[in-house]
Amino acid sequence: MSDLTAKLASTSKVEMTQLVMPPDATGLGIAFGGRVMEWTDLAASMAAMRHARMPVVTACIDQLSFLAPIRVGQIVVLRARVNAVFGSSMEVEVNVVAEDPANGERRDCCEAFLTLVALGPSGTPAKAPILLPQTEEEEQRAREAVARRAARMARRRKA
Ligand SMILES: CC(C)(COP(=O)(O)OP(=O)(O)OC[C@H]1O[C@@H](n2cnc3c(N)ncnc32)[C@H](O)[C@@H]1OP(=O)(O)O)[C@@H](O)C(=O)NCCC(=O)NCCS
Repeated sequence: MSDLTAKLASTSKVEMTQLVMPPDATGLGIAFGGRVMEWTDLAASMAAMRHARMPVVTACIDQLSFLAPIRVGQIVVLRARVNAVFGSSMEVEVNVVAEDPANGERRDCCEAFLTLVALGPSGTPAKAPILLPQTEEEEQRAREAVARRAARMARRRKA
């Protein structure tokens, strides 16, 4: 039986670190967008699994923006957090920064909003625990996530 006790957003945060190696990069020496998406999806999935304590699948990735290139040899830091829980679905935000290992300087490189769905023992969507916002910032994130969900659902209805 899954534990549906309400959870704090802080308990499921993820910080994931990767070193960009040549196989991760294009001929221009910058990370492939697809590789950054893979890391983003992984970080988001871990945050969602930590929240739900259930297996999850990615239902949707929206608003993934590449803000600056990430070079081979840089350290990529991905931070994922659950913004809101609806029923079985959760919106997870991932922010990606590239760190220069020589001096520690960091630059925002990517941000994304993903929808992950918790699955029950039968492999079908199952209710995830409620998220308890603790701070004004977390409440704001949850409100914004509700607005994004409405837009997502409208797109889904049209598709
Ligand atoms: C995601 C999936 C489980 C949804 O199943 P479904 O039978 O459509 O179930 P429902 O319509 O009841 O949707 C379940 C939840 O997912 C949400 N959802 C489904 N598709 C969505 C989409 N495209 N965007 C955002 N949310 C979506 C629904 O809003 C619902 O959320 P709620 O419970 O919080 O209200 C199913 O479509 C699936 O398995 N897709 C493939 C996932 C996959 O292979 N991902 C890549 C590997 S991880």
